[in-house]
Amino acid sequence: MANYVVVGMQWGDEGKGKIIDVLAARADYVVRYQGGNNAGHTVVVRGEKFALHLLPSGIVSGKTKCIIGPGVVIDPAVLLGEMKELVARGGSVDNLFISDRAHIVMPWHVKMDELREEFSEGRIGTTKRGIGPCYADKITRIGIRAVDFLQMDVFAKKLKIALDEKNEIFTKIYNQPPLSYEKILADYTEYAAALRDKIIDSIEEINKAIEEDKIVLFEGAQAMMLDITYGTYPYVTSSSPTSGGVTTGAGVAPGKISKCIGVMKAYTTRVGDGPFVTELTGELGERLRTVGGEYGVTTGRARRCGWLDLVVGKYAANINGLSDIVLTKIDVLSGLDTIKLCTGYEIDGKIHHAFPASTESLYHAKPVYEEFPGWKEDISGITEYEDLPAACKTYVKRIEEFLRCRVSIISVGPDRVQNILLHEIF
Ligand code: IMP
Repeated sequence: MANYVVVGMQWGDEGKGKIIDVLAARADYVVRYQGGNNAGHTVVVRGEKFALHLLPSGIVSGKTKCIIGPGVVIDPAVLLGEMKELVARGGSVDNLFISDRAHIVMPWHVKMDELREEFSEGRIGTTKRGIGPCYADKITRIGIRAVDFLQMDVFAKKLKIALDEKNEIFTKIYNQPPLSYEKILADYTEYAAALRDKIIDSIEEINKAIEEDKIVLFEGAQAMMLDITYGTYPYVTSSSPTSGGVTTGAGVAPGKISKCIGVMKAYTTRVGDGPFVTELTGELGERLRTVGGEYGVTTGRARRCGWLDLVVGKYAANINGLSDIVLTKIDVLSGLDTIKLCTGYEIDGKIHHAFPASTESLYHAKPVYEEFPGWKEDISGITEYEDLPAACKTYVKRIEEFLRCRVSIISVGPDRVQNILLHEIF
């Protein structure tokens, strides 16, 4: 059996897209299992940058079958736009398929997301892509699914029921104009026609591939700390990016997952609101943001930056059951005199090593740091572990020791080839 999950260990943007693309060269399938176009995965091939939101990162390799799984929410206009752009740049979408059970993002989801962010005191700092409201409709059982694109009479009926309710909310609560049934029906009839051939029963396809010993990579979007249950609630996304999400989001039994690979940046970033214990707000934070190019792929927002938080790392290692870590963007730390690692939180005079449930307590948590000497060398061209500066190796070793998990790949730059391989993952 050769089925691997790749998850983010922090607040997203760890560089999962690049790693999936590297691993996809040897995989038969890449499957997205949650999230939607709130994700932004960057893949760089020979200097050419591909920003993917809904397309699985394996699509750039061209050879891998890519599936948008049942747990994903799909904005069809965005997906079609991405497919068109990829083809225009010489790529192919012949190997792309969509689960018939995936939910469809509708215009009222995007509008509701925007209104809540604008008017609610409890704003989350979402990507305003309609992701939360779409998952909410799924759970409320009034969602529209890809399978409904195969029967447009059913689609039209569901559209009417859902839209009538939403228009009541828009007009009576938010004092907004209603959305037009006719316009949405016309637009979505076009999208359905364009996507119909891609819609399949992905459960059959994926489980058959597993039986045939094909290599299947499950690609997590967002990350551990944005998980709806385990993240810094309510500053989270509305799905389960953890490895457990694969079983519900891709239709694969837990025993069929061979390994879980965690991707962790050598420092921490987050976009949107919510607590961030190791955040650096001064010059150092600005330096990490500039050198690391820490601006959102989806929204262009500047990311908040800070030191690597191993309380978060340990939590991610436990919940996901990690077998390997891919440590990314360590080259960004070159040139610093001192580097810090957070190994605990001091909250109200007590030291915590486990990640606390109370998001409020995190606002006054003080990080407990271990300090390490930095290194001056540019390491972005290094391909062998032995050639890394001694201080850099010490930093990596301490991470492995603390998390009790091996670091198998160190990524030292955005390109596909800028990697140091320590252990074969598969
Ligand atoms: P939503 O997923 O758009 O509802 O946003 C909820 C939170 O998750 C916000 O803080 C977003 O900034 C964050 N978020 C969603 N997707 C990503 C991602 O791909 N990378 C980083 N943060 C994300």
